[in-house]
Amino acid sequence: MKSKPVVFLDSGVGGLPYLLEAKRKLPSRDFIYLADNKNFPYGGRDILSLKKIVHEIIGKALNAFDPEAVVIACNTASVVTLSSLRQKYGIPFVGVVPAVKPAAENTKNGIIGLLATETTVKNIYTDTLIRDFASDCSVRKFAGVKIVDFVENQLYQSNSMRTTKILQPAVTFFKKEKIDTLILGCTHFLFVKDTLKKMLGSQVSIIDSVEGVTTQLKKVISSCPEKPLETHRSRYTFYITGNRFDRSKYDVFLQKFELVWGGTL
Ligand code: DGL
Repeated sequence: MKSKPVVFLDSGVGGLPYLLEAKRKLPSRDFIYLADNKNFPYGGRDILSLKKIVHEIIGKALNAFDPEAVVIACNTASVVTLSSLRQKYGIPFVGVVPAVKPAAENTKNGIIGLLATETTVKNIYTDTLIRDFASDCSVRKFAGVKIVDFVENQLYQSNSMRTTKILQPAVTFFKKEKIDTLILGCTHFLFVKDTLKKMLGSQVSIIDSVEGVTTQLKKVISSCPEKPLETHRSRYTFYITGNRFDRSKYDVFLQKFELVWGGTL
């Protein structure tokens, strides 16, 4: 019997590095990637409106694709909506939240940086993660609002000088705070991880949640063959919301992540 797909949701392209690893771990599975372009960005939105937006789009996605599980491939949406989504729907939801525990295990000097959206930085769920897993550390937070927009809209049209310029305020802040470990608390930031690493220097470790999230996904869905099936070619389809978008902007992402265009949801 054909297995049901897994849906990934983010406000934009941020969740694609997570999807890439999920495809590697679950090669016989179909994946649907949903970029909520209509409501981009999620960061900075108030909790109630973001909850409404995410519940609405998840409702539509469940009707359209009947997935076995959903990955909320967005820290902002996860910290705000994960528990209510789990309560409402009877399928597994895997969240992407700041990797506070691995960061606390990694730090030597006890000073950790958190680079995330404004909503994630201020959210009570984030505070709870810090209290539960890093109570003996000092966590210095920076909201990288401009970085999100840069990755979503300009990354592949920009040169490395421009990328460095966009990251500079965050890097200056974290250097001043003397962090030795940085949590990438927004999926969009995975795209600039290498540049951040160069700018922060080898004494700072950068922690993301790709491995943890995809391992968790593999656990919650029904077992599937480790190798692609000869009888089924896995499909990786990219959908967006809304009707005001520049299709050419997405082509480069589709190519890089080997997805086919599904249209609008
Ligand atoms: N990629 C999202 C996250 O992980 C947020 C981007 C946005 O502000 O929409 O938080």
